[in-house]
Amino acid sequence: MNAISPDLTRALSSTGSEAAQALPSSLFGLPEQPAHERVLLAADPLSGLKAIIAVHSTARGPAFGGCRLWTYDSELAALNDALRLSQGMSLKNALADLPFGGGKAVIIKPVGDFDRAALFAAFGRAVQSLAGAYITAEDVGTTTADMRGMQAETSYVSGIPRDGAFGGDPSPKTAYGVFVSIDEGVRRVLGRSSLEGVRVAIQGLGAVGWHLAEYLHVAGAELLVADIDNAKLARAQAQFGARIVDVQQIIAADAEVLAPCALGAALNAHSVPQIRARLIAGAANNQLATAADGDALHARGISYLPDYLVNAGGIISVAREYRGEGSESAVMAEVGRIRERVAELLDRVATQGLTPARAADEWARSKLVKPA
Ligand code: NAI
Repeated sequence: MNAISPDLTRALSSTGSEAAQALPSSLFGLPEQPAHERVLLAADPLSGLKAIIAVHSTARGPAFGGCRLWTYDSELAALNDALRLSQGMSLKNALADLPFGGGKAVIIKPVGDFDRAALFAAFGRAVQSLAGAYITAEDVGTTTADMRGMQAETSYVSGIPRDGAFGGDPSPKTAYGVFVSIDEGVRRVLGRSSLEGVRVAIQGLGAVGWHLAEYLHVAGAELLVADIDNAKLARAQAQFGARIVDVQQIIAADAEVLAPCALGAALNAHSVPQIRARLIAGAANNQLATAADGDALHARGISYLPDYLVNAGGIISVAREYRGEGSESAVMAEVGRIRERVAELLDRVATQGLTPARAADEWARSKLVKPA
């Protein structure tokens, strides 16, 4: 079984000089619990590429996970992101019953103007150098065009629009998985028979958050939305009758459901005591800043549906596309099965007396083995 060592997690969970001072005693984790199978640092001076590819586990198959292009406070913060995200992919792919392990890549966004095509060509060569141990796709900051551009350098890439076939942008599929999770949670946790009139607060109206808002609006939910982009807020107000909430206030919004769909660590020691929602389910990866925050939510009677369970729609889509399997309706049906897993998790929580976060973790880790 693989897991990032607590030592390493603690040391890398801060950024900048603080992290540099708190170097872990071993980057390799514990002998019986290795942190990651391999981590590649790829640099290309011509294009300005500085990338980290973290392969957490290939126990179930090649490591599959997206590539993030982002501005980080420090290189250690980027490494931390890659390590945490790749571990999350192992759990996500295992719970989704995909024949893939977990990996993730992070490209540190070059400062100033840069040649995007050259950057992704260099990244494609780095992916190719791993000879299939890692397969990439979109994540925050990267596009279907970036994936298509990389095809000249590597075949280990997915999330590419293919004429006449299904595939491409995974975000709508991710949104559908989050939607069915919220719908199931609302029935089971809130005891409501539908989403009609249920107030849902969405943090982040990006590629996933926007599609989620569409699904929820059609189902009759009342939306409260926050984003740093005012144009998206205006559109949501006009199109869905959504109520705009300040980005600082959305966590504490007067809603029954909270859907974090921006970046990670939205659920932390500062925010958890303020939350008024009884159910949390959203797309953002690594929503819990620490495991203790999951315990604190549970203690407050708030049901948190783990991110890697509910946001697996995108990886289900790109995995099918990569394997050349199925159709749009087949992938939607498979994404829809996330509802059954949410129901099973809530059953496990009830019988095992664990928090949803810990029950999901245990369940996923039991599946970090080669599928039969
Ligand atoms: P995106 O970049 O399209 O959207 C993020 C949105 O959050 C943007 O509209 C941005 O303006 C907004 N935002 C940023 N900071 C904010 C803040 N402080 N408060 C409120 N809004 C803020 O990203 P995307 O693709 O929608 O992904 C969202 C999250 O879901 C990310 O954490 C991503 O890793 C995760 N995810 C995405 C998948 C996908 O298929 N796109 C799959 C699985 C996870």
